[in-house]
Amino acid sequence: MPVHNRIADFADDLTEWRQDIHAHPELGFQEHRTSDLVARKLAEWGIEVTRGIAQTGVVGTLRCGTSNRAIGIRADMDALPIEEATGAPYASQNPGRMHACGHDGHTTMLLGAARYLAETRNFDGTVHFIFQPAEEGPGGGRVMVEEGLFERFPCDMVFGAHNDTTMPVGELAAVVGPVNAAADQFWIHIHGTGGHAARPQGAIDPVVIGSHIVLALQTVVSRRTNPLESAVLSICQFHAGTTDNVIPETASLNGTVRTLDAHVRDDMQRLLTDIATATARAHGAEAVVEYDRGYPVNVNDAEATERAARAAGRVLGDARVIRERPPVMGAEDFSYMSLTVPGCFVRIGQAGRERGAVPVHHPRYDFNDEILPIGSSVWAALVEQELPRG
Ligand code: NI
Repeated sequence: MPVHNRIADFADDLTEWRQDIHAHPELGFQEHRTSDLVARKLAEWGIEVTRGIAQTGVVGTLRCGTSNRAIGIRADMDALPIEEATGAPYASQNPGRMHACGHDGHTTMLLGAARYLAETRNFDGTVHFIFQPAEEGPGGGRVMVEEGLFERFPCDMVFGAHNDTTMPVGELAAVVGPVNAAADQFWIHIHGTGGHAARPQGAIDPVVIGSHIVLALQTVVSRRTNPLESAVLSICQFHAGTTDNVIPETASLNGTVRTLDAHVRDDMQRLLTDIATATARAHGAEAVVEYDRGYPVNVNDAEATERAARAAGRVLGDARVIRERPPVMGAEDFSYMSLTVPGCFVRIGQAGRERGAVPVHHPRYDFNDEILPIGSSVWAALVEQELPRG
């Protein structure tokens, strides 16, 4: 079974919705227009709509037959604070806002599946279509779970997808185990002693100490972490000083830590804190470390992944479903959902001959509309497979 015929029939509608959402990108928890559009369409197709979970989140519920089984499928709706440079006729109309991660496409693929399933009702059970806000940072997935998503909409399993610019159109990856890293943020505040730049002996220079800390932290991954276990430590901001003849009193560093395993995550936090504070102390200054744990590791459940792979195989052919692939060190807040309910997060290839290969979060990135019917068909096939009739 390739792409569902009925979905292929309304592929132009999918493209139109996707490009409309693309033209009106909204940041996390501000997806008012997008969630209005989603809610309106779901209601139009006779799907029960619940709004206001995690502010702008929407859940569509479609029941059919008598089975108690239920599955959830989740899409994210938010955009990024990027100035778009695609030059597309449907480019962002909101300055400084852009759908540069393809969440416009994720939302549309799930809408397409919802429309098909509402029209055909060829299943027995309940589907919850989960449209979440704020994947890019503020953690809309976490807020939905905290606000009782799975108590209000019980699901046996939950599924999600992200487009992938490194995989060709027509391929899908469904891989067991960790697929996205945990993402933590840290700030290191260095308190030295300011003074005249010409009299360093009277000061304790936080710029030099901060530089030592930056270099010392490079050893956490290279020398202290098992080479067979993955970790990233990137320092992305270094702020200090105001002019050329003053040694500042303070400096601050900020960055991110990515890991795939709980004990590596604990080690990274401990080593970063120890090295930063001890390095500052060795130079007569003080460093205070703030360490915030962000999205947890996104781990695919073996059973849920098997089921997602089987459904994808029915649409794409088993040979085009990738079952082994290294995880990515980017984070994904679907992890909060799959920590609560067994889940699987797949990646859908979108690199075509002419489009779809510009990486996400780039001002020239665009979602490849060619894969909309594929994504919708995979979700539809999954529902028909998991909630079979008779
Ligand atoms: Ni994304």
